[in-house]
Amino acid sequence: MGKGHPHRSLFLYNVGRSRSRANPSMSFTKIIERTANHVKAALSGDGSGHDWWHIERVWRMAKRIGHVEGADMLVVELAALLHDIADWKAHGGDSSIGPTMAMDWLTSLGLDSNIIQHVGQIIADISFKGAGVEEPVLSLEGQIVQDADRLDAIGAIGIARAFAYGGAKGRTIYDPATKPAEHRTSEEFLKSDGTTINHFYEKLLLLKDRMNTATGRAIAERRHRFMEDYLQRFYEEWEGG
Ligand code: ADP
Ligand code: NI
Repeated sequence: MGKGHPHRSLFLYNVGRSRSRANPSMSFTKIIERTANHVKAALSGDGSGHDWWHIERVWRMAKRIGHVEGADMLVVELAALLHDIADWKAHGGDSSIGPTMAMDWLTSLGLDSNIIQHVGQIIADISFKGAGVEEPVLSLEGQIVQDADRLDAIGAIGIARAFAYGGAKGRTIYDPATKPAEHRTSEEFLKSDGTTINHFYEKLLLLKDRMNTATGRAIAERRHRFMEDYLQRFYEEWEGG
């Protein structure tokens, strides 16, 4: 937080955190239920670590943090559900596809345009694009969804996802000769083809210090320690221990 650089927005939006009535003809529960079903159908069969279960975990975590932090829960839940509807990395680095698809869906539900813009902005802003890439300033709701998404990339589940991703890309688990890189641009991060152990240093171990909320930070600390223990064991076993 507090990285004071002005961020050039992809979308015009009003971050007004008013608990605006979404759509007078549809209840909160109905909006969330229909969105969850839409996302589930869209992501079924994804093997890149963005399957429905990732979304469900992020959604659950975002609700947990959002309640503690007193956020606009409609925005939090919608952004959590829709945040990976299309991945910028799978679309040659085009980061406008996800937000556009999410906003089209919310428009089809007839939601208030402030909510649509806010959710679209969050999805555009939260993705990790490399250790040295500047991060945009987020609304409270954006901070919460980003924390929830990042928490799913660390700890026991984060380790599983990293090796699943690495396997899907045909990457080596570890090579003592290749050193981790700090990616200064999102293009570099996108092109990286290092080992999965290096991904820990290029992303996973950096996330703890990039948590936005106190709640997220506390959960991250615990998951972080588990990854450090894991890496220590990994190197011990590598040496025959
Ligand atoms: P999200 O956008 O959901 O935060 P990403 O799309 O960056 O996550 O990645 C999905 C999962 O795959 C995450 O758990 C992430 O750490 C992992 N992953 C991404 N890139 C790599 C990589 N180069 N090597 C290993 N795992 C990766
Ligand atoms: Ni995600």
